[in-house]
Amino acid sequence: MENTKPTIITFNKIGSSELGYITIAEVEKNVPFNIQRVYWTYYTPQDITRGGHAHKKLQQIIFAVSGTITFNTEDREGNKETFILDHPTKGLYIPQLVWRDIKFSHNAVLLCLASELYEEEDYFRSFEDFRKIIDQKKTFK
Ligand code: TYD
Repeated sequence: MENTKPTIITFNKIGSSELGYITIAEVEKNVPFNIQRVYWTYYTPQDITRGGHAHKKLQQIIFAVSGTITFNTEDREGNKETFILDHPTKGLYIPQLVWRDIKFSHNAVLLCLASELYEEEDYFRSFEDFRKIIDQKKTFK
């Protein structure tokens, strides 16, 4: 069945409080797509909301490797959710067609594993266009 909802995947950690930890993301084992691109964002001011888009084809797993990152999402069915990434083992899997707004704590570093190369045509940057296309798709189903 196709995933339509964002979900938290909790990744294992290896290590101890004495030695520190390592967490591993591996295609087929705990990443449900081929990773084509990795990017990270940092130094985002706390009063800024980023995101403000949805993707047509892209799937992602997003981590807060440092700090806390809050996602407010709306999926293609209109379900709204809030996800708080506050630990480096928590990955947010985001399937296609999920609108997201993102807030960062001052020390947050976001790491994204992405299923496609960057393509501006893959973005909905207007919420109205996003909803309109989804509603049209439903009508033609
Ligand atoms: P965007 O995806 O809008 O970031 P956010 O959701 O964090 O606000 O990307 C910000 C800018 O970076 C935009 O001009 C596009 C560019 N960009 C690339 O050139 N390649 C990439 O892989 C990504 C993710 C962004």
